[in-house]
Amino acid sequence: MSTIEKALEKGLDEAALDEVREEVETSAPSPTQYVPTGKPQIQIDVDRLRELGMLEPDAAHGQLAEEFRIIKRPILTNAFGQGGQQIQNANLVLVTSSLPGEGKTFTAVNLALSIAAERDKTVLLVDADVVKPSTSQLLGVDGRAGLIDILERRVTVADALLRTDIPKLTVLPAGRRHPHATELLASEEMNRLAQEMSRRYPDRVIVFDSPPLLATTQASVLAAHVGQVLLVVEAEATPQYIVKEAAAMLADCQVVGCVLNKTNQGFGLGYYAYYGYKYYNYGE
Ligand SMILES: Nc1ncnc2c1ncn2[C@@H]1O[C@H](COP(=O)(O)OP(=O)(O)OP(=O)(O)O)[C@@H](O)[C@H]1O
Ligand SMILES: [Mg+2]
Repeated sequence: MSTIEKALEKGLDEAALDEVREEVETSAPSPTQYVPTGKPQIQIDVDRLRELGMLEPDAAHGQLAEEFRIIKRPILTNAFGQGGQQIQNANLVLVTSSLPGEGKTFTAVNLALSIAAERDKTVLLVDADVVKPSTSQLLGVDGRAGLIDILERRVTVADALLRTDIPKLTVLPAGRRHPHATELLASEEMNRLAQEMSRRYPDRVIVFDSPPLLATTQASVLAAHVGQVLLVVEAEATPQYIVKEAAAMLADCQVVGCVLNKTNQGFGLGYYAYYGYKYYNYGE
């Protein structure tokens, strides 16, 4: 029963009801309330992003900005559109690949920056590559408490999240190295954390950078917690049978998109994106 219905049942008069209505309306959070407040805890090193040929925050134009618009749109539609209601944890997006070096970190960070530029969305970038935390290194937060420390219950989620100077971007570092990281990522605690992250803010996307699927079991373990997977494939480098093997490991995932990275199509940044769904045919 809603607060207003309860008030009606109590027989409140119109004036008292108006007060209740006002209280209900003002207590409903507006999208901007979900933007973390307070001083940024980390500054994004824009020069470093530029050096690496990555998206610069607020870059509205250019090849890369356009490509990430193409990549993020179906992800946002799945996460927040009507069809997304059937996808569990639809706003959790795992970025992975078959092999090392195909461009997972590049894609995860750019995707997060691109989503942070949306007017009414916020984004949490999680470094879930807990063995080789490149995202944490790139953002200068390696060594800080993070995902592993939360799973070990050494810190709370609130204490580990880092606000950045990009108002809509929050970062969760990988945290300390742990010999049983895979078991922690497969744990019930990780399941609870994924659910909590997914439900906490209705306008937030959570992007996970991860290790390669065929090198460790961590990525496939993580894939079980998320609603969407983005498989990065290095064009003209990763053999087709390898991509098929990786795709087979994602067979139980609800939505799998594919980004073809580092193509040599004559584009400025040598980057070409293809985004498909589970019906994407890997060349059978
Ligand atoms: N589209 C691209 N344009 C330019 N540089 C890129 C592109 N994709 C990746 N790179 C560069 O290629 C290198 C490897 O990319 P990245 O670190 O993102 O791969 P990864 O899949 O995360 O690797 P790992 O498996 O080691 O975590 C990096 O130096 C990155 O900056
Ligand atoms: Mg990486």
